Amino acid sequence: MIQTSKLKQEFIHRYGELEVEAYFSPGRVNLIGEHIDYNGGFVLPAAISLGISAVVKRREDGIVRIYAREFSEEISFSVNDFFLFQQKSTTHWSDYVKATLQVLKDNGVQLHGADILIGSDLPLGSGLSSSAALECLIAFIFNEDFYSQNRTPLALDAQTAERKYVGVNCGIMDQFAIANGKKDHAILLNCATLDYEYIPADFKDYQLLIINSNKSRSLAESKYNERRSECDAAFEILSKFDIAEDLCHVHEISLGYLEDDTLYQRAKHSILENKRVIYAVEALKNGSIEAFGQLLTESHISLDADYEVSGHELNMIVHYSTHFDGCIGARMTGAGFGGCCIALVEKDKTERFITYVSKKYSEKTSLKADFYVAEIEDGVRKL
Ligand code: GLA
Repeated sequence: MIQTSKLKQEFIHRYGELEVEAYFSPGRVNLIGEHIDYNGGFVLPAAISLGISAVVKRREDGIVRIYAREFSEEISFSVNDFFLFQQKSTTHWSDYVKATLQVLKDNGVQLHGADILIGSDLPLGSGLSSSAALECLIAFIFNEDFYSQNRTPLALDAQTAERKYVGVNCGIMDQFAIANGKKDHAILLNCATLDYEYIPADFKDYQLLIINSNKSRSLAESKYNERRSECDAAFEILSKFDIAEDLCHVHEISLGYLEDDTLYQRAKHSILENKRVIYAVEALKNGSIEAFGQLLTESHISLDADYEVSGHELNMIVHYSTHFDGCIGARMTGAGFGGCCIALVEKDKTERFITYVSKKYSEKTSLKADFYVAEIEDGVRKL
């Protein structure tokens, strides 16, 4: 988290106000359960200490000015403006802001004006859900009284902003983790019902590391929507033979009804990944961290071979991570096609791990990876 005192100084310099409020919205990592939130599966994400901070001064006149430090750019508009959303090839950060405010307006929330300065230590567009963090942050700032007591509606509204106005057909996992995060706990979320349970994220002698491949995720949006359509197509066929209510709960034996290889692979990943989440939670609860780590690596192999959302860079990170003596599991996290991996590494070997993986990765890809120690934190909040 960026130091709030620093942001406050910048705010005073830019907007001249001293009496401000500060907010923080975290990024998230998903431990396991990838690409199955939109198929009724279980997922196991956690909010992290990297995120987006905001310093806010409420205004009485309905004008909103937001300065994004990372882009050295300010946007301004009136809460009464009519926002226009068009499908575009690239998304600007302000689209997430306006999309979220539009959902609040649709819900009948009376919006007020505000001057806001935002700063982030979350690597943007790297698969740690910077967009969901921004949506949840904006929703929380403008409707705090309601959302501080109603975290699941916050997640659902932020998801609606992304689906309806930004145009990405995302699942609920990211917004849910950011809204409901709890320090030192992962969230076991049943995406079919939105029931959830906090699971202590105690990795014993191991450290959870986040590794940013710095490979841009340019394909992620289009391929994401493509995977969703393939899963819908697979389920349409399978539901003629199987009583399951969603793809993740189809019986493995029914996979034989899928003649198309691609649909078979997508369905197989969905069904088995869902099972892996259940085994992984059991392992975590029993303190079997090595078994948990192994499931992470199995998840990656399935995402690469069957779901086909990995890529050379993420595979290189997982390859060299799992070849390091002291790393018990690694996988890509998030939508894939670039972005981040996670790895579980023996605490006293993390420095050597970073040196080794960093060197091998640069040799193979000419890119430089960034490493972060993952600290699991509370969800979006006022500071
Ligand atoms: C993105 C989406 C999530 C989820 C993951 C893949 O982060 O926003 O809903 O589908 O990809 O697990």
